[in-house]
Amino acid sequence: MSRADLVVVANRLPVDRVEGPDGEPAWRRSPGGLVTALEQVMQSLDGAWVGWGGQPDLQVEPFEFDGNLLVPVSLTRADLRDYYEGFSNGTIWPLYHDVIAAPEFKRSWWDAYVRVNRRFAEAAAEHVADGGFVWVQDYQLQLVPQMVRELRPDVTIGYFHHIPFPAYALFAQLPWRRQVLDGLLGADVVGFQRVADAGNFQRSIRRLLKYPTKGDTITVPTVEDESRVVVAKSYPISIDASQFIELAQRPDIIERAKALREQVGSEKLMLGVDRLDYTKGIRHRLKAYGELLADGRIKGHEATLVQIASPSRPGVEAYQDLRDEIEMTVARINGDYSTVENTAIRYLHQGYPREEMVALYLAADVMLVTALRDGMNLVAKEYVAVRGDNTGVLVLSEFAGAADELGSALLVNPHDIEGMKDIMMRAVEMPEAEQARRMKTMRRKVLDNDVEKWGRSFLDDIDEVRRRRNAS
Ligand code: G6P
Repeated sequence: MSRADLVVVANRLPVDRVEGPDGEPAWRRSPGGLVTALEQVMQSLDGAWVGWGGQPDLQVEPFEFDGNLLVPVSLTRADLRDYYEGFSNGTIWPLYHDVIAAPEFKRSWWDAYVRVNRRFAEAAAEHVADGGFVWVQDYQLQLVPQMVRELRPDVTIGYFHHIPFPAYALFAQLPWRRQVLDGLLGADVVGFQRVADAGNFQRSIRRLLKYPTKGDTITVPTVEDESRVVVAKSYPISIDASQFIELAQRPDIIERAKALREQVGSEKLMLGVDRLDYTKGIRHRLKAYGELLADGRIKGHEATLVQIASPSRPGVEAYQDLRDEIEMTVARINGDYSTVENTAIRYLHQGYPREEMVALYLAADVMLVTALRDGMNLVAKEYVAVRGDNTGVLVLSEFAGAADELGSALLVNPHDIEGMKDIMMRAVEMPEAEQARRMKTMRRKVLDNDVEKWGRSFLDDIDEVRRRRNAS
């Protein structure tokens, strides 16, 4: 089997297992942004992708898909319980999102995390060419960089962290904090969404490991008198802006947006689009909106909130509790403020194809992104990309990574319900000239910094490390 110049390692493969036309299982490309981001480099570099196939106990040999090698890692039900739902999403996810939910520190989960990370690392080490690149993605695989380095010291390793990296005082709670830092420092380049995340990471390194840091670099001691330099800096991820713009110009999607708008009927349409996750601030948004209705600042026919909450991690208790709470709140608000003609909140616990999302973005006068903490939030960038006529208002949490680039949005602190109510009213009432001024600035940012540029700048930095190493 030929080996690949670039091996991407992510928890999920870029494909979903579906039923083919003849009833046989088949694979279909999943719509995620990362897949699009890496598509071009993967093609040009002869790439492979190591990841989980999305179902328990799936035993599938590596296979070709669209010119790349996909290498499925098999996870048992116990692995999924302890590594995925447990350590990844019951420990790291809440801890790194500022303990919005309480993280659980279970030794059996940690053991599974180590075991499963090793399986991913072994698959990557097996499939990467001599002197090639391995690019590890996200918090589920923080130990993989070091494990790959031990197995394959000849390769250059990158790691990108898609979620926040927390302040030292929070990170320090993790019983396995040193092992996690060592794992990440196995990479040559460690990428983060925000400058603040890279700063938090460096601070944890200085406090816990006492390694010196300077600018974007960390000096990691190796054997006596030798050291290795690791780059740790921010590379804000983005979207394939041109693809969203194209969709927004398609006549059928424009028609669909008009139809949605008419069906909703109210004067203003406010939209929320999130995975059903406690980090997204859906409860806070509903509270603010419910109070605006209660106070009479918004009357029934004046606005409708469409809230899409796509199903996520249903095996994790905190997500089950959140779903119950949100659905009860939606039902209460609708019971109190809907009329026969107008529904106050249209709540949809479903995922939608990209075409339908673009139609909704086009139909929405106001987009509400009120996350309590979010690595980036690509929904904010998608909304901005499709608003080609420069209308529409983005309400954006200052705790989402996107706020660093989209400072012309209406920035909110979602914990401040009174403040959020005022901002929502400002959004609904904003004159078109102000909408256009803000949207123009934001669109320029999103269009100039698309996901391809993100991928290229990260890979350029890994390549630079490789060139320096080859030269020395
Ligand atoms: C976040 C994470 C990703 C993850 C995605 C969906 O965006 O950063 O790594 O894939 O959520 O979550 P799931 O648990 O369904 O993969």
